[in-house]
Amino acid sequence: MEESFLINGGKILSGKVEVEASKNAYLPILASSILCDKDVTFLNVPNFSDIHSMCEILKRLNVKFEYFGNVLSLDVSNVKNEKITHDLTNKLRASIFLLGAMLGKFRQAIISYPGGCNIGQRPIDIHINAFKSLGVKVIEKHGYIYCNASNMKAGKVVFTSVSVGATESLMMCACLLKGETTLVNVAKEPEIVDLANFLNKMGGKISGAGTDVIKIIGVESLHGGEYKVMPDRIIAGTYLILGAMCGKNLQISGFRKEDNNFLFNIMRESACEIIEKNGNIIVSARGRNKAYRYLETAPFPNFPTDLQPQIMAMQSVASGTCVLKENVFENRFNHVMELVKMNADIFVKDRIAIISGVEKLYGADVFATDLRAGAGLVLAGLVADGYTTVHNVQYIDRGYENLERKLEMLGADIKRIKFE
Ligand code: EPZ
Repeated sequence: MEESFLINGGKILSGKVEVEASKNAYLPILASSILCDKDVTFLNVPNFSDIHSMCEILKRLNVKFEYFGNVLSLDVSNVKNEKITHDLTNKLRASIFLLGAMLGKFRQAIISYPGGCNIGQRPIDIHINAFKSLGVKVIEKHGYIYCNASNMKAGKVVFTSVSVGATESLMMCACLLKGETTLVNVAKEPEIVDLANFLNKMGGKISGAGTDVIKIIGVESLHGGEYKVMPDRIIAGTYLILGAMCGKNLQISGFRKEDNNFLFNIMRESACEIIEKNGNIIVSARGRNKAYRYLETAPFPNFPTDLQPQIMAMQSVASGTCVLKENVFENRFNHVMELVKMNADIFVKDRIAIISGVEKLYGADVFATDLRAGAGLVLAGLVADGYTTVHNVQYIDRGYENLERKLEMLGADIKRIKFE
């Protein structure tokens, strides 16, 4: 059954919104929980479909679950080394994290290739080459990756290019590996720091997360414990952009400035008003925003690719022209043609979008093609004249919890509709 959001745009949004825990921190942390010997309890698990998909994979490895609201307890005392089949990996890019975790725990793994949002090829060569540089034997055949890490040794891994997932994979893989493993040219996203914080709280010895070099001293075992994951900086950034477009005293609780410094600083150049009060951010639109002349996405601490569709929606109605370059993924402009249906004036050449701001967007039937593209289309629908139907909201549910209900609480006229 297809589900869509029906949005009647033009409302001013105000009130308080709570940012959920980070999808991109929870996914590697959940995968790495199989490295622990004792129960692990997570205190703020969000209701995202990607989290459920990850839990399905862990169940296949005989992890037992107990839910109490958004508290989730994992019994990892009897984890089994099972083949991770295509039905489990094809929905979730983050399924690849099980490879690093299983090599760390069992020194053996058989896993199918990860799926995920269609924003590019999404190869895993950086992960595989990094495992090989520690002595892991890898054979790829018949749609599966067969890994044997019985001769894996601690050592130095220099990543050929920056990869969030590959950095996290190697952190998990080396956590229980005797000796010192050094990772060079790593990603520095806040989610990587959160993974290191989690593993260290469980007894790991990881230093340097958030810098260019991460050092991991292998330990005998990891115990269990409780953990609360960081807030989702992409959801927080989505609400900040929303507030700049149509907010009035929109209060965002859980917005950690250090996770979104780049966005926070450029927002100060736009027309909106931002107030910081008791750890919350309060944002109000103040008339038409001026276009950013040039923006490009890049690894942290630069402007995040996961906010590119959302900032594009904002620039579509800004005054002036914005040149927006997407450096991280080769196919992350699928939302452009959908915005053009709404009267946006956007020209794309290779990885560059030239956005000439228009006075108004108009409601239309638009189609989400991935999680963040869907979020960008919702923002556009909220400021458009008339009705917008955003189709394929299952993409949005991957990383936003009941988005329509949260927006309705802020004053939006938005409904989830189901087509038989
Ligand atoms: C993570 O994806 C996030 N997903 C993505 O968020 C995010 O956009 C991305 O990091 C960049 O910040 C999760 O954390 C689950 P990469 P990941 O490895 O790890 C290429 C969302 O919307 N590459 O840093 O896959 C790759 O194709 C999602 O929440 C290789 O070539 O990103 C891309 O062009 C979307 N070979 C670039 O590197 C590899 O082995 C960066 O990818 C790995 C990556």
